[in-house]
Amino acid sequence: MSLDLKSLVRTIPDYPKKGILFRDITTLIEDPQGFRESVKRISEAHADLGITHVAGIEARGFIFGAGVAIEMGVGFVPIRKRGKLPGETIGQNYVLEYGVDTIEIHANVLNSHHKVLLVDDLIATGGTAIAAIGLLRRTGAQADHAAFVIDLPDLGGADKLRSESVQIQALIDFAGH
Ligand code: PRP
Ligand code: MG
Repeated sequence: MSLDLKSLVRTIPDYPKKGILFRDITTLIEDPQGFRESVKRISEAHADLGITHVAGIEARGFIFGAGVAIEMGVGFVPIRKRGKLPGETIGQNYVLEYGVDTIEIHANVLNSHHKVLLVDDLIATGGTAIAAIGLLRRTGAQADHAAFVIDLPDLGGADKLRSESVQIQALIDFAGH
């Protein structure tokens, strides 16, 4: 029987504020089989696409993205929040619930010879992932695939990403409540 990853995700009501059901992946990654299986499912689904790099989004995307890169035998490119990367960077703004933030990657790492798989733990409104795909595409690299452990489909992010011609894999979805 295949492992039920969804049952390993803990739901915490009213975090970080009242009315939010927080989907907590720390219980999934504490489980060695759950963690390994998550990484394996993402890696296997993208094995035959000629992926040259995995890009993970700080912070929680690093956890799964690093594992996927190792499993696939490709390099890992960190997409970091503003001001954390020491070399020359390119950045992309994105809208948060309150205000605007910026994610960055090192310039001159990716180019049109590369094909990147974006990995993050969760897609909700899609703001973060759309900014990340935009950033990756600005380098000239192909960025047409994204994998998430959790999709919250009611928030519409996955559909938005699909309308930007990104193929999406989500291991778990939480629709409704
Ligand atoms: C969370 C989550 C995704 C993003 C999804 O990250 O890890 O990266 O939000 O939301 P969206 O689809 O509405 O953009 P967060 O910025 O909270 O930070 P963290 O990964 O550093 O914990
Ligand atoms: Mg995140």
